[in-house]
Amino acid sequence: MQSESPPIISLSEVSKVYVIGSTKLRALDRVSLDIYPGEFTCIIGRSGSGKSTLLNMIAGLEKPTRGRIRIAGKQIERMNEAQLVQFRLNNVGFVFQSFNLFAMHTALDNVAMPLMYKGTNRLRRKRLARKMLAAVGLESHMMHKPSQMSGGQQQRVGIARALVTSPKILFADEPTGNLDLKTSREVLRLIRSICRERGTTLIMVTHDPDMAQYADRVIQLLDGRVLSNEVNKHPGNIPLVKTLEDGTVVVLTEEEALAEEAKA
Ligand SMILES: Nc1ncnc2c1ncn2[C@@H]1O[C@H](COP(=O)(O)OP(=O)(O)OP(=O)(O)O)[C@@H](O)[C@H]1O
Ligand SMILES: [Mg+2]
Repeated sequence: MQSESPPIISLSEVSKVYVIGSTKLRALDRVSLDIYPGEFTCIIGRSGSGKSTLLNMIAGLEKPTRGRIRIAGKQIERMNEAQLVQFRLNNVGFVFQSFNLFAMHTALDNVAMPLMYKGTNRLRRKRLARKMLAAVGLESHMMHKPSQMSGGQQQRVGIARALVTSPKILFADEPTGNLDLKTSREVLRLIRSICRERGTTLIMVTHDPDMAQYADRVIQLLDGRVLSNEVNKHPGNIPLVKTLEDGTVVVLTEEEALAEEAKA
């Protein structure tokens, strides 16, 4: 994969310095890295290591203090705000730890929302949103509002919303941070399988080192620097777990997991 296509994301000596009063905080320190199309990259590191700062910088939500960021053929640190908005609309999707759904809107309307910003007509918006909700297994919850859904279901809506515009790149900042182990695995499996199927580049931030074994590339940050950047040639299957009545947690085999998914 790497040798065939140029990187879809390329950072060169990117630094971010926050100034608060008279103190300067170097949240990112000369970060250089390449990410290739279709890869699933995990950014790991302890709290405060700069993971979210890095993600926000790559996604064009914040400007670097220094350095160059090239993404999908564009030099984004040179864009103005209007160009960045347009760029994000056409190229990237986001999944958040806290779901960030509109409480007063149904799952269907939440998922259709990004298409409205793109100027897609109403009929097509509904059709695409329905299709995307079905792809995340929520065909029976289209008219539910966020408060009428479980955490895992809300995050599925978040995933559908992020992917409804068919972005080239999906950013996820701790997407399973508010979910239990079982639901986390289900959500991760879902994100990874949809991205693999569509060839979407997935960049996920997590502080959970366990998640890294499922990624194609793992970038470890420490104090704003890249501590390691490694390709994982054989990313693992994401095992599903089940909580038994007495509270014990068991890991399901691939066949059992598929049977469970078919039941759900
Ligand atoms: N807007 C900001 N203004 C000032 N300092 C900031 C800002 N955003 C982040 N920082 C600082 O930059 C450093 C890196 O923060 P960042 O949010 O990227 O960490 P993180 O790795 O995502 O941590 P966590 O796992 O807790 O989410 C921290 O020391 C943080 O306090
Ligand atoms: Mg963070």
